Amino acid sequence: NKGHYEHYMQKEIHEQPESLTTTMRGRLSRGGSSKLKTVLLGGLKDHLKTIRRSRRIVFIGCGTSYNAALASRPILEELTGIPVTMEIASDLLDRQGPIYREDTAVFVSQSGETADTLLALQYALDNGALCVGITNTVGSAIARNTHCGVHINAGAEIGVASTKAYTSQIVVMAMLALAIGGDTISNQARREAIIDGLLDLPNKVREVLKQDQEMKDLAKLLMSEQSLLVFGRGFNYATALEGALKVKEVALTHSEGILAGEMKHGPLALVDENLPIIVLATRDACFSKQQSVIQQLHARKGRLIVMCSKGDAALVSTGESCRVIEVPLVEDCLQPVINIIPLQLLAYHLTVLKGLNVDQPRNLAKSVTTQ
Ligand code: UD1
Ligand code: M6R
Repeated sequence: NKGHYEHYMQKEIHEQPESLTTTMRGRLSRGGSSKLKTVLLGGLKDHLKTIRRSRRIVFIGCGTSYNAALASRPILEELTGIPVTMEIASDLLDRQGPIYREDTAVFVSQSGETADTLLALQYALDNGALCVGITNTVGSAIARNTHCGVHINAGAEIGVASTKAYTSQIVVMAMLALAIGGDTISNQARREAIIDGLLDLPNKVREVLKQDQEMKDLAKLLMSEQSLLVFGRGFNYATALEGALKVKEVALTHSEGILAGEMKHGPLALVDENLPIIVLATRDACFSKQQSVIQQLHARKGRLIVMCSKGDAALVSTGESCRVIEVPLVEDCLQPVINIIPLQLLAYHLTVLKGLNVDQPRNLAKSVTTQ
Protein backbone atom coordinates (compact mmCIF):
# COMPACT_ATOMS: atom_id res chain seq x y z
CA ASN A 1 0.00 0.00 0.00
CA LYS A 2 1.56 3.23 -1.23
CA GLY A 3 -0.83 5.48 0.73
CA HIS A 4 -0.85 8.91 -0.89
CA TYR A 5 2.52 8.35 -2.56
CA GLU A 6 3.01 7.61 -6.23
CA HIS A 7 5.79 5.10 -5.80
CA TYR A 8 7.13 2.80 -3.10
CA MET A 9 10.57 4.35 -3.31
CA GLN A 10 9.07 7.78 -2.64
CA LYS A 11 7.02 6.42 0.28
CA GLU A 12 10.00 4.61 1.74
CA ILE A 13 12.22 7.69 1.51
CA HIS A 14 9.61 9.83 3.24
CA GLU A 15 8.80 7.35 5.99
CA GLN A 16 12.36 7.31 7.32
CA PRO A 17 11.60 9.40 10.44
CA GLU A 18 9.14 6.63 11.42
CA SER A 19 11.22 3.64 10.31
CA LEU A 20 14.22 4.95 12.27
CA THR A 21 12.05 5.46 15.33
CA THR A 22 10.91 1.85 15.09
CA THR A 23 14.49 0.66 14.63
CA MET A 24 15.48 2.30 17.93
CA ARG A 25 12.31 1.46 19.87
CA GLY A 26 13.06 -0.33 23.13
CA ARG A 27 16.79 -0.38 22.43
CA LEU A 28 17.91 3.03 23.66
CA SER A 29 17.17 4.84 26.82
CA ARG A 30 17.95 8.31 28.00
CA GLY A 31 18.57 6.74 31.40
CA GLY A 32 16.51 6.80 34.53
CA SER A 33 17.60 7.91 37.96
CA SER A 34 21.17 6.79 37.35
CA LYS A 35 21.32 9.27 34.41
CA LEU A 36 23.24 6.62 32.48
CA LYS A 37 22.35 6.37 28.84
CA THR A 38 22.24 2.80 27.66
CA VAL A 39 21.86 0.61 24.59
CA LEU A 40 20.22 -2.79 24.73
CA LEU A 41 20.29 -5.10 21.74
CA GLY A 42 18.33 -8.11 22.99
CA GLY A 43 19.62 -10.43 20.28
CA LEU A 44 23.26 -9.80 21.17
CA LYS A 45 23.37 -9.49 24.92
CA ASP A 46 24.53 -13.07 25.51
CA HIS A 47 27.24 -12.79 22.85
CA LEU A 48 28.82 -9.42 23.60
CA LYS A 49 31.65 -10.94 25.64
CA THR A 50 32.63 -13.23 22.78
CA ILE A 51 32.43 -10.39 20.27
CA ARG A 52 34.64 -8.17 22.47
CA ARG A 53 37.26 -10.91 22.60
CA SER A 54 37.33 -11.42 18.83
CA ARG A 55 40.47 -10.48 16.93
CA ARG A 56 38.61 -8.87 14.08
CA ILE A 57 35.13 -7.93 12.95
CA VAL A 58 34.45 -8.72 9.30
CA PHE A 59 31.48 -7.06 7.63
CA ILE A 60 30.01 -9.05 4.75
CA GLY A 61 27.25 -7.88 2.39
CA CYS A 62 26.31 -6.79 -1.12
CA GLY A 63 25.17 -3.50 -2.66
CA THR A 64 23.50 -1.08 -0.29
CA SER A 65 23.97 -3.38 2.70
CA TYR A 66 27.72 -3.36 2.09
CA ASN A 67 27.62 0.44 1.88
CA ALA A 68 25.78 0.68 5.20
CA ALA A 69 28.46 -1.44 6.84
CA LEU A 70 31.16 0.75 5.30
CA ALA A 71 29.44 3.84 6.73
CA SER A 72 29.53 2.23 10.18
CA ARG A 73 33.10 0.99 10.14
CA PRO A 74 34.72 4.16 11.53
CA ILE A 75 32.55 4.33 14.65
CA LEU A 76 32.88 0.62 15.29
CA GLU A 77 36.66 0.89 15.13
CA GLU A 78 36.67 4.00 17.28
CA LEU A 79 34.46 2.65 20.06
CA THR A 80 35.71 -0.94 20.15
CA GLY A 81 39.35 -0.73 19.07
CA ILE A 82 38.79 -4.00 17.20
CA PRO A 83 40.06 -4.01 13.58
CA VAL A 84 37.13 -4.00 11.16
CA THR A 85 37.50 -5.32 7.61
CA MET A 86 35.03 -5.20 4.74
CA GLU A 87 34.02 -7.98 2.37
CA ILE A 88 31.71 -7.95 -0.62
CA ALA A 89 30.17 -11.40 -0.27
CA SER A 90 30.91 -12.57 -3.83
CA ASP A 91 34.53 -11.44 -3.60
CA LEU A 92 35.09 -13.27 -0.31
CA LEU A 93 33.77 -16.42 -1.98
CA ASP A 94 35.80 -15.88 -5.18
CA ARG A 95 39.00 -15.58 -3.14
CA GLN A 96 38.01 -18.08 -0.47
CA GLY A 97 39.48 -15.39 1.80
CA PRO A 98 40.69 -16.34 5.28
CA ILE A 99 38.05 -16.39 8.04
CA TYR A 100 39.06 -17.66 11.48
CA ARG A 101 37.47 -18.93 14.68
CA GLU A 102 38.65 -15.74 16.37
CA ASP A 103 36.65 -13.59 13.92
CA THR A 104 33.21 -12.11 14.36
CA ALA A 105 31.58 -12.10 10.92
CA VAL A 106 28.67 -9.68 10.59
CA PHE A 107 26.24 -10.38 7.73
CA VAL A 108 24.26 -7.37 6.62
CA SER A 109 21.22 -8.01 4.44
CA GLN A 110 17.86 -6.32 4.10
CA SER A 111 16.13 -9.38 2.63
CA GLY A 112 18.17 -11.95 4.51
CA GLU A 113 18.01 -14.08 1.35
CA THR A 114 20.81 -12.76 -0.90
CA ALA A 115 22.54 -15.81 -2.39
CA ASP A 116 26.13 -14.57 -2.13
CA THR A 117 25.67 -13.33 1.43
CA LEU A 118 24.05 -16.61 2.41
CA LEU A 119 26.86 -18.66 0.83
CA ALA A 120 29.43 -16.47 2.56
CA LEU A 121 27.57 -17.16 5.82
CA GLN A 122 27.83 -20.90 5.24
CA TYR A 123 31.54 -20.44 4.49
CA ALA A 124 32.14 -18.45 7.70
CA LEU A 125 30.18 -21.00 9.77
CA ASP A 126 32.34 -23.79 8.29
CA ASN A 127 35.43 -21.80 9.30
CA GLY A 128 34.24 -21.48 12.89
CA ALA A 129 33.61 -17.71 13.09
CA LEU A 130 30.93 -16.25 15.34
CA CYS A 131 28.26 -15.22 12.82
CA VAL A 132 26.04 -12.22 13.52
CA GLY A 133 23.13 -11.15 11.30
CA ILE A 134 21.77 -7.67 10.71
CA THR A 135 18.58 -8.28 8.79
CA ASN A 136 15.22 -6.70 8.11
CA THR A 137 13.30 -9.89 7.51
CA VAL A 138 12.33 -12.00 10.50
CA GLY A 139 12.55 -15.69 9.65
CA SER A 140 14.81 -15.11 6.61
CA ALA A 141 17.61 -17.56 5.83
CA ILE A 142 20.32 -15.24 7.19
CA ALA A 143 18.34 -14.48 10.35
CA ARG A 144 17.81 -18.22 10.91
CA ASN A 145 21.33 -19.38 10.22
CA THR A 146 23.39 -16.78 12.10
CA HIS A 147 24.33 -17.48 15.74
CA CYS A 148 22.71 -14.24 16.84
CA GLY A 149 21.83 -10.86 15.43
CA VAL A 150 19.69 -7.77 15.31
CA HIS A 151 16.54 -7.16 13.29
CA ILE A 152 16.57 -3.63 11.92
CA ASN A 153 12.74 -3.44 12.12
CA ALA A 154 12.49 -0.90 9.27
CA GLY A 155 9.25 -2.47 8.00
CA ALA A 156 8.80 -4.16 4.62
CA GLU A 157 10.79 -2.49 1.85
CA ILE A 158 9.15 -2.93 -1.56
CA GLY A 159 11.07 -0.60 -3.90
CA VAL A 160 14.03 -2.37 -5.50
CA ALA A 161 16.23 0.56 -4.52
CA SER A 162 17.00 0.19 -0.84
CA THR A 163 16.41 3.45 1.05
CA LYS A 164 14.89 3.14 4.51
CA ALA A 165 16.71 -0.14 5.15
CA TYR A 166 20.04 1.64 4.54
CA THR A 167 19.44 4.28 7.19
CA SER A 168 18.10 1.72 9.68
CA GLN A 169 21.13 -0.51 9.08
CA ILE A 170 23.46 2.38 9.90
CA VAL A 171 21.53 3.16 13.07
CA VAL A 172 21.67 -0.50 14.16
CA MET A 173 25.40 -0.63 13.51
CA ALA A 174 25.95 2.58 15.50
CA MET A 175 24.06 0.92 18.36
CA LEU A 176 26.18 -2.19 17.81
CA ALA A 177 29.34 -0.10 18.19
CA LEU A 178 27.97 1.36 21.44
CA ALA A 179 27.01 -2.11 22.69
CA ILE A 180 30.39 -3.69 21.94
CA GLY A 181 32.48 -0.67 22.93
CA GLY A 182 33.44 -0.46 26.54
CA ASP A 183 31.84 2.13 28.75
CA THR A 184 35.00 3.85 29.93
CA ILE A 185 35.31 7.25 31.56
CA SER A 186 37.30 8.49 28.60
CA ASN A 187 34.60 7.81 26.00
CA GLN A 188 31.54 8.53 28.11
CA ALA A 189 30.89 11.98 26.66
CA ARG A 190 31.23 10.65 23.13
CA ARG A 191 28.84 7.76 23.85
CA GLU A 192 26.27 10.09 25.36
CA ALA A 193 26.52 12.46 22.41
CA ILE A 194 25.89 9.57 20.02
CA ILE A 195 22.90 8.30 22.01
CA ASP A 196 21.42 11.82 22.16
CA GLY A 197 22.13 12.13 18.45
CA LEU A 198 20.34 8.86 17.74
CA LEU A 199 17.28 9.88 19.75
CA ASP A 200 17.07 13.19 17.89
CA LEU A 201 17.83 11.70 14.45
CA PRO A 202 14.20 11.22 13.32
CA ASN A 203 13.64 14.98 13.81
CA LYS A 204 16.72 15.82 11.78
CA VAL A 205 15.61 13.41 9.05
CA ARG A 206 12.23 15.16 8.98
CA GLU A 207 14.08 18.44 8.49
CA VAL A 208 16.24 17.23 5.60
CA LEU A 209 13.22 15.67 3.86
CA LYS A 210 11.89 19.23 3.41
CA GLN A 211 14.45 19.59 0.61
CA ASP A 212 12.31 17.46 -1.68
CA GLN A 213 11.48 20.35 -4.03
CA GLU A 214 15.08 21.55 -4.09
CA MET A 215 16.20 18.07 -5.13
CA LYS A 216 13.53 17.96 -7.80
CA ASP A 217 14.88 21.25 -9.18
CA LEU A 218 18.40 19.82 -9.14
CA ALA A 219 17.12 16.71 -10.94
CA LYS A 220 15.66 18.92 -13.70
CA LEU A 221 19.08 20.44 -14.13
CA LEU A 222 20.80 17.06 -14.29
CA MET A 223 18.27 14.95 -16.17
CA SER A 224 20.06 14.92 -19.50
CA GLU A 225 23.54 14.31 -18.10
CA GLN A 226 25.41 11.17 -19.09
CA SER A 227 27.40 10.87 -15.93
CA LEU A 228 27.66 12.10 -12.35
CA LEU A 229 30.50 11.79 -9.82
CA VAL A 230 30.10 11.87 -6.04
CA PHE A 231 33.14 12.67 -3.89
CA GLY A 232 33.19 11.75 -0.21
CA ARG A 233 35.62 10.69 2.50
CA GLY A 234 35.70 9.50 6.11
CA PHE A 235 32.23 8.80 7.46
CA ASN A 236 30.80 9.87 4.10
CA TYR A 237 32.83 7.78 1.68
CA ALA A 238 29.97 5.29 1.96
CA THR A 239 27.49 8.11 1.21
CA ALA A 240 29.33 8.75 -2.07
CA LEU A 241 29.13 5.06 -3.04
CA GLU A 242 25.52 4.73 -1.98
CA GLY A 243 24.39 8.00 -3.65
CA ALA A 244 26.04 6.88 -6.89
CA LEU A 245 24.44 3.42 -6.60
CA LYS A 246 20.97 4.98 -6.22
CA VAL A 247 21.47 7.21 -9.26
CA LYS A 248 22.72 4.39 -11.46
CA GLU A 249 20.22 1.72 -10.46
CA VAL A 250 17.01 3.73 -10.76
CA ALA A 251 17.81 6.76 -12.94
CA LEU A 252 20.06 4.67 -15.21
CA THR A 253 22.62 7.48 -15.28
CA HIS A 254 26.24 6.42 -15.01
CA SER A 255 27.47 7.48 -11.61
CA GLU A 256 30.54 6.79 -9.56
CA GLY A 257 31.26 7.30 -5.89
CA ILE A 258 34.84 8.41 -5.38
CA LEU A 259 36.99 8.49 -2.27
CA ALA A 260 38.11 12.14 -2.25
CA GLY A 261 41.57 11.17 -1.00
CA GLU A 262 42.07 9.28 -4.27
CA MET A 263 41.22 12.30 -6.44
CA LYS A 264 44.74 12.99 -7.64
CA HIS A 265 45.38 9.31 -8.29
CA GLY A 266 43.17 9.23 -11.39
CA PRO A 267 39.67 10.73 -11.12
CA LEU A 268 40.94 14.34 -11.43
CA ALA A 269 41.62 13.63 -15.11
CA LEU A 270 37.84 13.37 -15.71
CA VAL A 271 37.14 16.86 -14.40
CA ASP A 272 36.07 19.50 -16.91
CA GLU A 273 33.39 22.19 -17.20
CA ASN A 274 30.71 19.67 -18.25
CA LEU A 275 30.78 16.73 -15.85
CA PRO A 276 28.61 17.38 -12.77
CA ILE A 277 30.30 16.55 -9.46
CA ILE A 278 28.66 16.31 -6.06
CA VAL A 279 31.09 16.93 -3.19
CA LEU A 280 30.08 15.86 0.32
CA ALA A 281 31.56 18.42 2.71
CA THR A 282 29.53 18.41 5.90
CA ARG A 283 31.33 19.27 9.16
CA ASP A 284 33.56 16.62 10.66
CA ALA A 285 37.27 16.03 11.17
CA CYS A 286 37.74 15.88 7.35
CA PHE A 287 36.07 19.22 6.59
CA SER A 288 39.20 21.25 5.84
CA LYS A 289 40.49 18.47 3.57
CA GLN A 290 37.20 18.57 1.67
CA GLN A 291 37.44 22.36 1.38
CA SER A 292 40.77 21.89 -0.31
CA VAL A 293 39.30 19.21 -2.64
CA ILE A 294 36.60 21.74 -3.61
CA GLN A 295 39.26 24.33 -4.40
CA GLN A 296 41.20 21.90 -6.56
CA LEU A 297 38.09 20.78 -8.45
CA HIS A 298 37.16 24.43 -8.94
CA ALA A 299 40.65 25.18 -10.26
CA ARG A 300 39.95 22.53 -12.97
CA LYS A 301 36.61 24.30 -13.72
CA GLY A 302 34.60 21.44 -12.20
CA ARG A 303 30.79 21.83 -12.23
CA LEU A 304 30.24 21.57 -8.51
CA ILE A 305 27.26 20.74 -6.33
CA VAL A 306 28.40 20.86 -2.71
CA MET A 307 26.60 19.33 0.26
CA CYS A 308 27.53 21.15 3.47
CA SER A 309 26.24 21.71 6.98
CA LYS A 310 23.67 24.46 7.59
CA GLY A 311 25.37 27.83 7.72
CA ASP A 312 28.51 26.70 5.88
CA ALA A 313 27.48 27.69 2.34
CA ALA A 314 29.90 30.62 2.25
CA LEU A 315 32.77 28.34 3.29
CA VAL A 316 32.26 25.85 0.46
CA SER A 317 30.73 27.77 -2.42
CA THR A 318 33.03 28.54 -5.32
CA GLY A 319 30.76 31.19 -6.81
CA GLU A 320 27.61 31.75 -8.88
CA SER A 321 27.66 28.48 -10.79
CA CYS A 322 28.21 26.35 -7.68
CA ARG A 323 25.04 24.76 -6.23
CA VAL A 324 24.92 24.20 -2.49
CA ILE A 325 22.78 21.71 -0.56
CA GLU A 326 22.67 22.61 3.15
CA VAL A 327 21.79 19.81 5.56
CA PRO A 328 21.33 19.65 9.35
CA LEU A 329 24.44 18.85 11.34
CA VAL A 330 24.34 15.72 13.52
CA GLU A 331 26.98 13.68 15.36
CA ASP A 332 29.65 12.77 12.77
CA CYS A 333 29.00 9.00 12.80
CA LEU A 334 25.28 9.60 12.15
CA GLN A 335 25.79 12.20 9.42
CA PRO A 336 25.64 9.50 6.67
CA VAL A 337 21.96 8.97 7.59
CA ILE A 338 21.24 12.64 6.86
CA ASN A 339 23.50 13.05 3.84
CA ILE A 340 22.10 10.12 1.86
CA ILE A 341 18.57 11.53 1.94
CA PRO A 342 19.01 14.39 -0.58
CA LEU A 343 20.76 11.88 -2.86
CA GLN A 344 17.88 9.39 -2.52
CA LEU A 345 15.49 12.23 -3.42
CA LEU A 346 17.68 13.25 -6.34
CA ALA A 347 17.78 9.69 -7.72
CA TYR A 348 14.02 9.40 -7.29
CA HIS A 349 13.21 12.66 -9.10
CA LEU A 350 15.74 12.01 -11.89
CA THR A 351 14.00 8.69 -12.52
CA VAL A 352 10.49 10.13 -12.57
CA LEU A 353 11.56 13.03 -14.82
CA LYS A 354 13.16 10.58 -17.23
CA GLY A 355 9.94 8.58 -17.30
CA LEU A 356 11.62 5.41 -16.03
CA ASN A 357 10.30 2.71 -13.73
CA VAL A 358 11.21 3.80 -10.19
CA ASP A 359 10.19 0.77 -8.19
CA GLN A 360 11.25 -1.88 -10.66
CA PRO A 361 14.35 -0.77 -12.61
CA ARG A 362 15.12 -2.80 -15.71
CA ASN A 363 17.17 -5.99 -15.22
CA LEU A 364 17.09 -5.84 -11.41
CA ALA A 365 15.35 -7.93 -8.73
CA LYS A 366 14.67 -6.86 -5.16
CA SER A 367 16.35 -9.91 -3.78
CA VAL A 368 19.22 -11.55 -5.66
CA THR A 369 18.69 -15.21 -4.82
CA THR A 370 20.90 -16.65 -7.57
CA GLN A 371 24.64 -16.28 -8.05
C1 UD1 B 1 12.72 -9.36 20.47
C2 UD1 B 1 11.48 -9.67 19.62
C3 UD1 B 1 10.57 -8.49 19.62
C4 UD1 B 1 10.21 -8.08 21.06
C5 UD1 B 1 11.48 -7.88 21.89
C6 UD1 B 1 11.08 -7.68 23.34
C7 UD1 B 1 11.46 -11.12 17.64
C8 UD1 B 1 11.86 -11.32 16.21
N1 UD1 B 1 11.85 -10.00 18.27
O1 UD1 B 1 13.40 -8.26 19.86
O2 UD1 B 1 9.37 -8.78 18.88
O3 UD1 B 1 9.47 -6.89 21.05
O4 UD1 B 1 12.33 -9.03 21.79
O5 UD1 B 1 12.15 -7.73 24.17
O6 UD1 B 1 10.76 -11.94 18.18
N2 UD1 B 1 18.72 -12.91 15.23
C9 UD1 B 1 19.64 -13.66 14.54
N3 UD1 B 1 20.07 -13.21 13.33
C10 UD1 B 1 19.61 -12.07 12.75
C11 UD1 B 1 18.68 -11.29 13.46
C12 UD1 B 1 18.26 -11.72 14.69
O7 UD1 B 1 20.08 -14.72 15.02
O8 UD1 B 1 20.03 -11.75 11.62
C13 UD1 B 1 18.23 -13.40 16.54
C14 UD1 B 1 18.69 -12.60 17.73
O9 UD1 B 1 19.92 -13.03 18.25
C15 UD1 B 1 17.55 -12.85 18.70
C16 UD1 B 1 16.33 -12.98 17.81
O10 UD1 B 1 16.82 -13.29 16.52
O11 UD1 B 1 17.74 -14.06 19.38
C17 UD1 B 1 15.48 -11.73 17.77
O12 UD1 B 1 16.30 -10.61 17.37
P1 UD1 B 1 15.74 -9.12 17.55
O13 UD1 B 1 14.36 -9.05 16.97
O14 UD1 B 1 16.72 -8.16 17.04
O15 UD1 B 1 15.69 -9.06 19.14
P2 UD1 B 1 14.98 -8.02 20.10
O16 UD1 B 1 15.24 -6.63 19.67
O17 UD1 B 1 15.35 -8.42 21.49
O1 M6R C 1 18.74 -7.86 0.65
P1 M6R C 1 20.17 -7.44 0.68
O2 M6R C 1 20.41 -6.28 1.57
O3 M6R C 1 21.10 -8.58 0.94
O4 M6R C 1 20.45 -6.96 -0.80
C1 M6R C 1 21.73 -6.56 -1.20
C2 M6R C 1 21.69 -5.86 -2.54
O5 M6R C 1 21.16 -6.71 -3.53
C3 M6R C 1 20.84 -4.60 -2.50
O6 M6R C 1 21.22 -3.73 -1.49
C4 M6R C 1 20.91 -3.86 -3.85
O7 M6R C 1 22.19 -3.33 -4.05
C5 M6R C 1 19.84 -2.78 -3.87
N1 M6R C 1 19.03 -2.86 -5.06
C6 M6R C 1 20.40 -1.40 -3.76
O8 M6R C 1 19.42 -0.42 -3.77
